[in-house]
Amino acid sequence: MAALLETRDLTIRFGGHVAVDHVSCAFEPGTLTAIVGPNGAGKTTYFNLVSGQLPASEGQVLLAGDDITRLPAPLRTRRGLGRAFQLTQLFPNLSAQENVRLAVQAREQGRGRGGIDIYRVWLDRKTWIDEARSILASVRLDDKRDAHASALPHGDQRKLEVALLMALDPMVYMFDEPTAGMSVDEVPVVLDLIRALKARKDRLILLVEHKMDVVRELSDRIVVLHNGALVADGEPATVIASAVVQQAYLGVYDAEVGPSAEHDGTPPRPLPAGRGGS
Ligand SMILES: Nc1ncnc2c1ncn2[C@@H]1O[C@H](COP(=O)(O)OP(=O)(O)OP(=O)(O)O)[C@@H](O)[C@H]1O
Ligand SMILES: [Mg+2]
Repeated sequence: MAALLETRDLTIRFGGHVAVDHVSCAFEPGTLTAIVGPNGAGKTTYFNLVSGQLPASEGQVLLAGDDITRLPAPLRTRRGLGRAFQLTQLFPNLSAQENVRLAVQAREQGRGRGGIDIYRVWLDRKTWIDEARSILASVRLDDKRDAHASALPHGDQRKLEVALLMALDPMVYMFDEPTAGMSVDEVPVVLDLIRALKARKDRLILLVEHKMDVVRELSDRIVVLHNGALVADGEPATVIASAVVQQAYLGVYDAEVGPSAEHDGTPPRPLPAGRGGS
């Protein structure tokens, strides 16, 4: 199947520091790719380059074969790239339901429905609200739908962020540590949603995740970044077992010279076999 999303030599430099270093990678719809690597490896920055939050210093981003490297973030969203919003970027003083309803509405209106028909608008609004409620139920926020988004506890805000992404239903879903900061009983709710999304087989999912048991279970493929560079890419069992991953997580891998005893600063996270990670 043709790649829906591709990056070619994608690079960004901050001063002398190369945070994402010539990353070339293509992703197909119907697959979930986990992007892993130690703290500071460039995972979030890679997402920022793909979604347009940061401008590339070099290289290209292609969506469905079109070069979108110079396209601003909102236009990329319109073309189907979806990144979980931070609530601070949305409407903290609207209720959870209103936030999700607006995302559903934005998606539908973006698809070019409409026309000046007051009855139609009323009917649509009802449909949007029903869908918003059903999405909120899927993240177990149905009992909090009238609460102001800003008044929700941290874990609920994270779930609302996921709900908003679900409401927009992009072609490409980018999840950056979607369960970070969630309580143990909230984590499965979000993982179930990602699982269901994957089962649809028509969306492309990129997941940055430190919990290796989650990565092992959900991913079709694992890409490993280290010091901004892609150092491994392949089938999960093979990549997890590879020396590159073991060493990258132990913080002793240097893509230029191979394994070394030194590490350049940020303490890497371990690669646990079971639960744990962040
Ligand atoms: N706006 C910026 N200005 C300067 N340096 C930046 C900026 N954004 C990221 N960096 C640097 O780029 C590198 C990659 O950071 P990034 O946040 O992408 O890592 P990460 O893999 O997501 O790490 P973590 O697992 O901790 O989330 C880091 O050294 C970081 O300090
Ligand atoms: Mg990050």
